[in-house]
Amino acid sequence: MFKILGTGHCLPERTVTNDELSTFLDTSDEWISKRTGIKVRHVITDETLSGLAASAASGALEMSGVRAEELDLIIATTGSAEKTVPGIGCMVQKLIGASCPAFDISSACSGFLMALDVATAFFKSGRVKKMLVVSAENMTRFVDWTDRSTCVLFGDGAGAVVLGEGDNLLAIKMHTHGDFDTVGINGPKGNSPFETVDRPERNSCTFMNGQETYKYAVGAMSDDLVEVAALAGISVEDIRHIVPHQANLRIIMATQSKLKIPMERFCTGIEFLGNTSSASEPIVLDIENRKGRFKEGDIVAFTAFGGGLTDGGAIYRW
Ligand code: ACO
Repeated sequence: MFKILGTGHCLPERTVTNDELSTFLDTSDEWISKRTGIKVRHVITDETLSGLAASAASGALEMSGVRAEELDLIIATTGSAEKTVPGIGCMVQKLIGASCPAFDISSACSGFLMALDVATAFFKSGRVKKMLVVSAENMTRFVDWTDRSTCVLFGDGAGAVVLGEGDNLLAIKMHTHGDFDTVGINGPKGNSPFETVDRPERNSCTFMNGQETYKYAVGAMSDDLVEVAALAGISVEDIRHIVPHQANLRIIMATQSKLKIPMERFCTGIEFLGNTSSASEPIVLDIENRKGRFKEGDIVAFTAFGGGLTDGGAIYRW
């Protein structure tokens, strides 16, 4: 399997508070804070998503002491791609000066974990010795800014890990429950002269049934943590730190109370990040890693859910 050799992240410069949102939306800091825990988010303006992703990757490479030319593979994850083609992984490859193959995974907010699962297979087969996983999202470019029920939830950013050979990943398990309606991002309208029906739903915007997503998220996160702990041969109490997908503080707290895990074991950044989709876990991982939170031997769990519907968990020994 693998070992994490370095972590990195990059956030856009511009921050937007809940109060600023309430200047053009019928919302309030009180509503957003109480329902989600979000106070402020970073919003992309003149930056590019590939630029953010490359900066996160460079930070992770620097920490790991690995040079871009040494990478055997780059897996990028995004649900809010800068271009449909080329993939963001290919753009990062060019920007950091790597020469290895690169490809993207589109698995919404579970993308980072899905990439770690794929990475596991590459390491197991002996085809890679060092690789980069980079997750980058600019969801604020894919929300309807007149829809207060979705646009207040999201933020932008990128996070990355450099992986090398090792046996630190103890278990990983992903799930998909194919679903068209609960949460997603519509495709673009296009301008084909052969279209016969007007499809106003093709507006490149995020749609979500908030309450269904909430219920799914709490069930999936807690079930996945229990499942991967069992696969790793440990109990949930042995988990020292949990890096959950940052979608809503209430989802994290409900998972915490269901599993009776002390809240301080959860790594959270939702207050100042908003939901950065697949980038949320590597961003929070890097922030906490640079603070020195993780000590050698600590058991760290990951858990995520997202559009697809997809979810999963992983257990890692630091
Ligand atoms: N400001 C003020 N009022 C609002 C806002 C807002 N930003 N948004 C909605 N409301 C109103 C609604 O219109 C509704 O008003 P009404 O009672 O007059 O009809 C009221 O607030 C309650 O709305 P609900 O949707 O029932 O609010 P709920 O308590 O379910 O909270 C929320 C909404 C925060 C979205 C919650 O359902 C949730 O967190 N769901 C999970 C979301 C999630 O995890 N998304 C991530 C998945 S997507 C991904 O990760 C890619």
